[in-house]
Amino acid sequence: MAGETLFFKGTKSRVIFLAFCLVGTCLLAEAEVHNLTWEVSYQYKSLDCYKKLAIAINGETPGPTINATEGDTIIVNVKNNLLMENLAIHWHGIRQFGTPWSDGTDGVSQCGTMPGDTFVYQFVVDKAGTYMYHSHYGMQRESGLYGLIEVSVPSGTKEPFTYDGEHGVVLSDWYHSSSYEQATGLTSIPYVWIGEPQSLLINGRGKYDCANLSASVCNAANPECAPSSFTVVPGETYRFRIASLTSLSALSFQIEGHNMTVVEADGNYVEPFATENLYIYAGETYSVLVTANQSSSRNYWITTNVVSRNASTPIGQAILNYNPNQNLIPPNTTPPPGPLWNDVDARKNQSLAIEARQGYIQIPPHPDKVIVLLNTQNKVDGYTKWAINNVSHTLPETPYLIALEKNWLDVFDQTPAPESYDYENYDIYSVQNNSNATTSSSIYRLEFNSTVDVILQNANTMTANNSETHPWHLHGHDFWVLGFGDGKYDMKNNDANYKFKNPIMKNTVPLHPYGWTALRFQANNPGIWLFHCHIEAHFLLGMLVLFESGSSMVSVPPQVNMGCGKTKSLMQP
Ligand code: C2O
Ligand code: CU
Repeated sequence: MAGETLFFKGTKSRVIFLAFCLVGTCLLAEAEVHNLTWEVSYQYKSLDCYKKLAIAINGETPGPTINATEGDTIIVNVKNNLLMENLAIHWHGIRQFGTPWSDGTDGVSQCGTMPGDTFVYQFVVDKAGTYMYHSHYGMQRESGLYGLIEVSVPSGTKEPFTYDGEHGVVLSDWYHSSSYEQATGLTSIPYVWIGEPQSLLINGRGKYDCANLSASVCNAANPECAPSSFTVVPGETYRFRIASLTSLSALSFQIEGHNMTVVEADGNYVEPFATENLYIYAGETYSVLVTANQSSSRNYWITTNVVSRNASTPIGQAILNYNPNQNLIPPNTTPPPGPLWNDVDARKNQSLAIEARQGYIQIPPHPDKVIVLLNTQNKVDGYTKWAINNVSHTLPETPYLIALEKNWLDVFDQTPAPESYDYENYDIYSVQNNSNATTSSSIYRLEFNSTVDVILQNANTMTANNSETHPWHLHGHDFWVLGFGDGKYDMKNNDANYKFKNPIMKNTVPLHPYGWTALRFQANNPGIWLFHCHIEAHFLLGMLVLFESGSSMVSVPPQVNMGCGKTKSLMQP
C-alpha cells in the first residue's frame, strides 16, 4: 500500500467511498486520509558542506515526501517554530478545487502563520502525478522549505508506461547569504542583485569548495554533503520524478551514459520522447524513465548545471549506483558538464517537443478573452521592479480571498488590471524607459467557466541586449500550452503557430528570451489565484498577477489565520 512508506509522523485513516461509476458498474475504491504533523524550524545544515541556517520540516530539508494515491485527502498540521518569522506553505500543482483556503499563499489565501501558531491545510490530491510543496511567504522558499508530492494512480488503474522502481529527485540552488539579506538588497536604493547561487543541490546535497575556509565553517568531509545516490539493478527501468525548486536557476539534468524518456510533465502524461538531457525550470516537474542498461562494473554521474544565465555556479553531482552491496564508489570519469548555458535553441526545441499523450483532455476551441502580458524590468520611484503591462504587483495587507469573501473592496485596488500593452509601438528588443510604470494591487476578474488565453510577451530588461527566461506558474488550474514563438506576438497571425493537435497541459511554462508563450485555461475553480514568475527575486519585485473567478461562490472558511490587515477586525477581543 503506497501509504505505508510515508516518512512522517502522523496517522492515517481509511474511508471507503464510491470512486466512479461506468455504464452501470461502480468501482469501489479506498481513499485514505493522511494526517501529517509538521514542525517547521531553523536548523544549522551543511547541505553543500558550508554551514548555514536552513528551514527544515521535522528536522529535514528537503522536507518529507508526501506519498499518496489519487483521491486521497491530505491534512497537514503545520506548526510554525521559526520563532521570528511568519510562514505559509503552497501545494504546487494541486488545484485545490473547493479548498482555495488551503492554497498556502501569503497575502492571497491566508495571513502568514505566526510563530507558535499551527495552520491546518486540508486538500484532496485529485490527479495522479508529480507535484511539489514549498514556502510561499516572501523569499522563504530558498531557505530550503520544500519537498515532493508523489501521487500514484488508484489501484487497478494502469499508467501508460511501466517501470520497475522509482526515485524522487529535488533539484535546488543554494545561496550562502540569507533570504533577508537578499530581499533587503533587492528592495533598496541602490539595488543589490543577489548574484548566482553558490551551489546546486540534488536532494539537498551539493559540494562547495571548502579550500581556505576553516573546517568549522566548511568541512568537505561532513556526511551531510556526501553526494546523493540512486540505486539501480542492471536491466531494470526506473521512473525518476524530478522537481525543480530553484529560486533562480534554469537547469539541465543528465545521467552519464544513459538516455531518458520523458513521460510526464506537471502531473500530465507526455507523448514519450527520448533525450540526453532534460531542461527544467523552477516550478516544473517531470517524470523520466531510465533503463539501467550500462555496464555494472562501475557507477555513473548524475549532474545538473545552470542554463540561460552565464553563471559560475559549479555543476551539481549525484551518483547512479549500480553496486548497492559495496561502499558507494564515485565514478572516475569526468562528470558530464551538460549543455552550454547559452544554447537557447536547444531549450526552445525541447519546449516545442513536449506534446500531450494522444487522447488527452479536449481543448476548448476558442477563447472568450485574450490577455496579453508584457514582461519588463522597470524602475518605480527609483526602485528596481518587474512589471506586467507596466504594473508591478504589490500584495495587500489583507489576503484577497478573505477580502472578496467579506466584500472588503477598500483593501485592494479596484481598477481592473491592464489586459494588454501598446504592442503596436513597443520595441521588445531595446531598453525602454518605461517611465509610466506603477505599483498596484489590482486583479483580473474573469467570468466563471470562461476560456481565457494568456499571451506572455518577453522583452529586453534594463540591460542592453539582455532578455531573461521566466518560468510562469498558475495556481488552481492546469493550462494548455498553445505555443511558443520568437519575437513579438502578432495578434492577427500568430495563432497559426498554435499547436492545437496535442497541446500539453501544465501548471508551469517557460517564457524564453525575446519570445512569447501562449496558453489557454478555463476559469473553472472558484477563488482567486496567483499567476507568477517562479523566480523568487522576480516574484518579490512584483512579477505576478491575480485571476479572480467565481469567488462569490466561496464560503466562509472553516479555519483561517487571522491577524493581518483588516482580518484583525474579525478576531475576538
Ligand atoms: Cu510554486 Cu506560487 O508557486
Ligand atoms: Cu522572472
